[in-house]
Amino acid sequence: MTIANTPVWQALTTHRASLDGFHLKNAFQDDPNRAATYTATACGLTVDYSKNLITDETWSLLKQLANQCNLVEKCQAMFSGQKINTSEDRAVLHTALRDFSRQPIIVDGKNIAEDVQAVQEKMKQFVSQVHDGTWLGYQGQPIKDVLSIGIGGSFLGPKIMSEALLPYRENKVKVHYVANVDAHHIRDVLAKLDPATTLVIMSSKSFTTQETLNNTLIAKQWLLDDGATQSDVAKHFVCVSSNVAAASEFGIAPENIFPMWDWVGGRYSLWSAIGLPIALDLGYEGYEALLRGAYDMDRHFQEAPISQNLPMILALLGVWYINFFDAESHVLLPYYHYLRGLPAYVQQLDMESNGKQATLDNAYVDYATGPVIWGGEGTNGQHAFHQLMHQSQRIIPADFILPLVADHQYSEQHAMLAANCFAQTQALMVGKTEEEAKAELQDKGFTKATLAALSVQKFMPGNKPSNTILFDKLTPYQLGTIIALYEHKVFCQGVIWGINSFDQWGVELGKVLGNQILPHLGKEASQANFDASTNQLIQRFLTANRT
Ligand code: F6P
Repeated sequence: MTIANTPVWQALTTHRASLDGFHLKNAFQDDPNRAATYTATACGLTVDYSKNLITDETWSLLKQLANQCNLVEKCQAMFSGQKINTSEDRAVLHTALRDFSRQPIIVDGKNIAEDVQAVQEKMKQFVSQVHDGTWLGYQGQPIKDVLSIGIGGSFLGPKIMSEALLPYRENKVKVHYVANVDAHHIRDVLAKLDPATTLVIMSSKSFTTQETLNNTLIAKQWLLDDGATQSDVAKHFVCVSSNVAAASEFGIAPENIFPMWDWVGGRYSLWSAIGLPIALDLGYEGYEALLRGAYDMDRHFQEAPISQNLPMILALLGVWYINFFDAESHVLLPYYHYLRGLPAYVQQLDMESNGKQATLDNAYVDYATGPVIWGGEGTNGQHAFHQLMHQSQRIIPADFILPLVADHQYSEQHAMLAANCFAQTQALMVGKTEEEAKAELQDKGFTKATLAALSVQKFMPGNKPSNTILFDKLTPYQLGTIIALYEHKVFCQGVIWGINSFDQWGVELGKVLGNQILPHLGKEASQANFDASTNQLIQRFLTANRT
């Protein structure tokens, strides 16, 4: 039996139908305590979820849904190291990487907490060697630039966290990122760097990722072309991987390999040595503060009752819209320039985790799972895509995210940013009636017919849901709490849908087909025998590249 066949799901369906006349504007007028009732705080975060299409009954049913799915027990199963990633027979323990309780965590009879601490110690030493100039390149010069090569979780986490924490950078080295197999990027980045003072961090959990392997080969050749010898490579290449054997075989010096483990999912890996670029940017202490924030959110997630549990609240609201209002997407709107990468980060986290078709019992789901995650920084979106949020027929739940204190001195401008953020949540919620639109136009001398026509155009239905997430400053600690909040939200939704949030089988077929097509695009290309469309695309490529 899937979750959609349970009595609580049926009760939610019936309850949803009873809300057809519900309007948030009236709900706020009827209940002066609504904002206080539906606001929760933890770990420096305040989540105002009062502008959601919920009543006390909705909330009571959603909590029943959580209990029906044994959400609390499943949460403990993850933290204790049970192999909840069943299709890959793996534990899910990114939380162990930030577990400052230092309690033993046993996986397959081994205390992994010790392994984690050993790698963290190695990271710490590495960062201090690079920063104090004792890590020397092949010409005896200290390192000035770091090139991080990786993709997906081995790229987005480090890049986006470092970008978000720009004011906290130590600026001892400059970190550059290359992910795509599109070699325009690596060509352009290498053009700016000096091989003698550049260190490459190759990040690949699997050590099989085409993009990362090929970009690393290009970078290695670039070093050799500069005059370095094969034995110099160890001075310029380190690697983070769970596939230590493949990394050694590739030629990475064993002492330059930072291990990670199969119980860390790629999209949850910034807490492992994949986070090295962050530590190089912030210094190890800054990186540790990020981990501490995540650890505090982990404890909150494990300890707080559902009605105060931030990840559970966000998860239940998301399920409410996806499954009972047919919401297809969820928008993230950070009102903070440095957090502009957050939507892309959460996009991988959520869509790769919960974009699934099968339950843990190997049945096909007959309800929607994971939303399309998208977004962008405020206020830019207001002048672009917010129109569709305000007036289209779609329902797009939104998270507005705002640090209350800016990192710059232009306080009036920060007030404008905040005013825009609050105004958007308000406009989505209250909307504008036709009468209000008419009243605005009344004095402008329009004819009755024009007034009627324009009031339809200007009508804004309102009743559009949003959460507002506030905190004081975007410190490394606070960012850690935010990322862990979204990680656990995604996990909770996966539990409710009965799916495995920690595998990603859907990405494999494209990789296999890509490898089959590749030989047909080379100089010695043989006749392709795929479908007619693919054959035609290959032909066009060959024609365009014929010399
Ligand atoms: O192809 C998807 C994926 O496996 C992601 O899950 C992962 O974050 C990314 O590719 C990179 O993988 P790796 O770190 O193994 O190179």
